[in-house]
Amino acid sequence: MEIQALGYVGLRASDLDEWTRYGTGLLGLQLVDRSAKSRAFRMDDRKQRFIVSDEPGGGASFYGWEVPDAATLDAMADRLQKAGIAVARGSRALADERFVRDLIVFSDPVGNRVEVFHGPQVANEPFKAGRTISGFRTGPLGMGHVVLTVANIDEMVAFYSGVLGFKLTDYFVSPYRVSFYHVNPRHHSLGFVEVGTNGVHHMMVELFSLDDVGQGYDVAQMEEGRVTSTLGRHINDMVTSFYTKTPSGFHMEYGWGGRAIDMDNWTPNEVTDGPSAWGHDRQWLNDDEKQVAKRIRMEAAQKGVRSPVQVIEGNYNRMPGVCPWFDTVSRERKAG
Ligand SMILES: [Fe+2]
Repeated sequence: MEIQALGYVGLRASDLDEWTRYGTGLLGLQLVDRSAKSRAFRMDDRKQRFIVSDEPGGGASFYGWEVPDAATLDAMADRLQKAGIAVARGSRALADERFVRDLIVFSDPVGNRVEVFHGPQVANEPFKAGRTISGFRTGPLGMGHVVLTVANIDEMVAFYSGVLGFKLTDYFVSPYRVSFYHVNPRHHSLGFVEVGTNGVHHMMVELFSLDDVGQGYDVAQMEEGRVTSTLGRHINDMVTSFYTKTPSGFHMEYGWGGRAIDMDNWTPNEVTDGPSAWGHDRQWLNDDEKQVAKRIRMEAAQKGVRSPVQVIEGNYNRMPGVCPWFDTVSRERKAG
């Protein structure tokens, strides 16, 4: 595995001040740089993670994927060139602008600008969240995930999986084709939804505390039309989250409790329930799609689709007693 994580993203927005309010006041990012034409935000020890430019069109202007070192970066450039893809070496000035040691730049099959880099710079000052949160779960898992809308999933899969080495985690074939890819134990760092147009469907950032998400939900509901999907829990990555509309036009998933997969012993599977065990009433669906989503949710409830909460050391207390449901699940897993 060469690409290790989603390291940074560049976004377009026509209203930079709205992005600042949204990014700091709702998400809890830290504004670190402000110019007439751009804003940069931190979410952890890295110097920047989100770079928003005053450009028309919304969506993303580049995606920064991280590799461990210079040798891996060179090997990836070679591999891309052999596959017939035009690769440019990032200039010193661009590397400085991105706060990385070195990078290469190329386009994916639909023209998205992809940057692969190594040597990210770490800030000297601790991360200072824009609102009171416990922090973002990043580190080796990267900054979160991005799910792209695509016109043709097959050409994207051939490129990202076949050439760049993203590994399939799981997929849906109905009601439309969706597939999820990992590059670290985060269930997916990249996903594709085949809905006819190329763009950004959503990005996801993950918080340390479920209460960060709940309080963010309260903050988001103060604004008419900000929430685009109600609180819910995904079946495949087990994240509990809600979605809001970003000032860049796509959705931001704000979540907690994502599972970590065992990359060495993982078999990709089709997901037939969901995408959610409950909740996630998605405002962007049309009336017919909403009916389908509602039926799927009712089926999930009827079947009793559930999974244990995924916790990390430090954010839970163990209660006395036993859970008969989980004991049964564990027994069945061992037997199966
Ligand atoms: Fe997501």
